[in-house]
Amino acid sequence: MILVTGGAGFIGSNFVLDWFQHSDEPIINLDKLTYAGNLQNLKSLAGDDRHRFVKGDIGDIELVKTILAQERPRAIINFAAESHVDRSILGPEEFISTNIVGTYRLLEATRWYFTQAPSALQEQFRFLHVSTDEVYGSLSPSDPAFAETNRYEPNSPYSATKAASDHIVRAYHHTYGIPVLTTNCSNNYGPYHFPEKLIPLCIHNALAGKELPIYGDGQQIRDWLYVKDHCSAIRCVVERGRVGETYNVGGWNEMANIDVVKTVCSVLDTLKPKADGSSYASQIVFVKDRPGHDRRYAIDASKICEELNWKPAETFETGILKTVRWYLDNPDWIANVTSGAYQNWLNLQYGNSPQP
Ligand code: NAD
Ligand code: DAU
Repeated sequence: MILVTGGAGFIGSNFVLDWFQHSDEPIINLDKLTYAGNLQNLKSLAGDDRHRFVKGDIGDIELVKTILAQERPRAIINFAAESHVDRSILGPEEFISTNIVGTYRLLEATRWYFTQAPSALQEQFRFLHVSTDEVYGSLSPSDPAFAETNRYEPNSPYSATKAASDHIVRAYHHTYGIPVLTTNCSNNYGPYHFPEKLIPLCIHNALAGKELPIYGDGQQIRDWLYVKDHCSAIRCVVERGRVGETYNVGGWNEMANIDVVKTVCSVLDTLKPKADGSSYASQIVFVKDRPGHDRRYAIDASKICEELNWKPAETFETGILKTVRWYLDNPDWIANVTSGAYQNWLNLQYGNSPQP
């Protein structure tokens, strides 16, 4: 049994689905179901005994202790976070609550569980913290890619809270001996990506005939990784990573935002051409820049490749094709997410939160 937190979000739900393609080991999935959590992502697991969902907060120490005592997981994988940079700029408080205080409380419950666990479980146990490349700050065009040894220079409220959580995780290893691992990954894309983020937003807006907003000059560079490749990296690290280490995860795929959006448009032009024959790229508009916008991220993933023999299976060309196809094949998912209908459903379904 493993405990996954934030397993109803974008990467977490992809991870849960991917896990069961490789293993029958059960997962208990603890998620607060914020606006970003969506149980529809996991509807293919309905009636599957391997997956057990608990609606709750990683910051609820008593709830987490109860889950740990009852389920006795051999690993915890912490995806739960507030994840959107623009929201952190509008209001950092939730980011501080979940990403910093929530992670600290999850670690406190873990410490309580770990210190009284039998030695066989202690030897096996791992706490994997899922983090981001944004903790390293912004690169100039000629800088080498981020290595695990780069100093932390977070620039947004989001990345500052993720950086703080990484440090707390590290401290729980050095001070209390909790067997932690941390992954710092680049930008993910793929199915179930909430349409507030660049790629799903542009797919959604393109199909809805709306503008595709590019911040500033569109020359900001991100490294893009297909979400399933992030999932396989996390499985590698939790099984074979060296305790106390951090591993950078990336796709060797640096692209300027404008090129990402133009690629999305050209895939859409092929798969679902517009009736008037024009390209979706004609919907691109340049808008006001994000405050403090980091110019370039790039990941040196050689440590995880060399130590753990991990490499991504998808290129950007294959991954973006799969992604756009998924959105075209799942209009109901997008419609529910954007209409907020699934939130109404949650209120009905979870008026009485299930407890373990
Ligand atoms: P997301 O916003 O899609 O999902 C976050 C999930 O966490 C949601 O299901 C939400 O309901 C849940 N959650 C939020 N607060 C919670 C709390 N207090 N208790 C329990 N659950 C809570 O995020 P994502 O894009 O899937 O990112 C997952 C993790 O990966 C985050 O830690 C993020 O920092 C990290 N990450 C994301 C990316 C990316 O490109 N999306 C890249 C690198 C790292
Ligand atoms: O690098 C990893 C990070 O990637 C994760 O830690 C974050 O959780 C995840 O949200 C993502 O952060 P970004 O800020 O890079 O992702 P986003 O999709 O919001 O933006 C990608 C780039 O596109 C960024 O440079 C901002 C730009 N952008 C974004 C939006 C939403 C636009 O130009 N227009 C937009 O409308």
